Amino acid sequence: MSEPGSAAELGQEAAVRRMLEDYYRDGTPPWDTGVTPPELVALVEGVGAPEPGRALELGCGMGTNAVYLARHGWRVTAVDLVERAVRGARGRAEEAGADVEFLCGDATRLSELGVPGPYDLFFDLSCYCGIPAHRRDAYAAGLTERAAPGATLLMFGYGPDVLDDPFSGVTADELESRFAGWRLTDVTPGTNPFPTAWFTLRRDLAG
Ligand SMILES: C[S@@+](CC[C@H](N)C(=O)[O-])C[C@H]1O[C@@H](n2cnc3c(N)ncnc32)[C@H](O)[C@@H]1O
Repeated sequence: MSEPGSAAELGQEAAVRRMLEDYYRDGTPPWDTGVTPPELVALVEGVGAPEPGRALELGCGMGTNAVYLARHGWRVTAVDLVERAVRGARGRAEEAGADVEFLCGDATRLSELGVPGPYDLFFDLSCYCGIPAHRRDAYAAGLTERAAPGATLLMFGYGPDVLDDPFSGVTADELESRFAGWRLTDVTPGTNPFPTAWFTLRRDLAG
């Protein structure tokens, strides 16, 4: 069970959820390119790629990357807050003949979703960077509890000050201090016209 938040915190969560639902209600959201980013392709298919294992995608949207992982041999669970996104993702997986477990729920409340793990790979493309600050410790704890020793977290996020919301965005310093028991092994700037980055974190082998 997660701790109840203050009225202001719950209001912030509800506002974020409404904004996200509006994006999906209005049709295809702007981020839904249908293209798997080269950074994920490099991890999955590049030199030194790990053997496929279990993967958890946080904020999977319409499922493009969960389907990609499943088609490359990973056993994938993918979570999104928005029911419409999850329905779309299930449709895409069915069309592609990919076996993915899609769940509607909150990436900061994984214990409510029945996803015990352990996972070898976590993938987050622009989910964490939009999560309200007061839920971020719970996000990190949820992944840490479910990480296999040596697990990888590949995350893309925009920097602070990109959106109007002063509390959104992510930095390397924040991830280093919030993800205890993980090592930030790579930060690669994104190619967007505003500050973005790809972050790679590795869970300690000792767990
Ligand atoms: C910018 S979109 C990116 C979607 C997808 N990763 C992609 O690249 O197409 C962020 C996604 O994270 C989801 N999201 C935001 N906060 C979430 C949370 N707390 N738990 C689960 N999903 C969340 C949103 O509903 C949205 O689908």
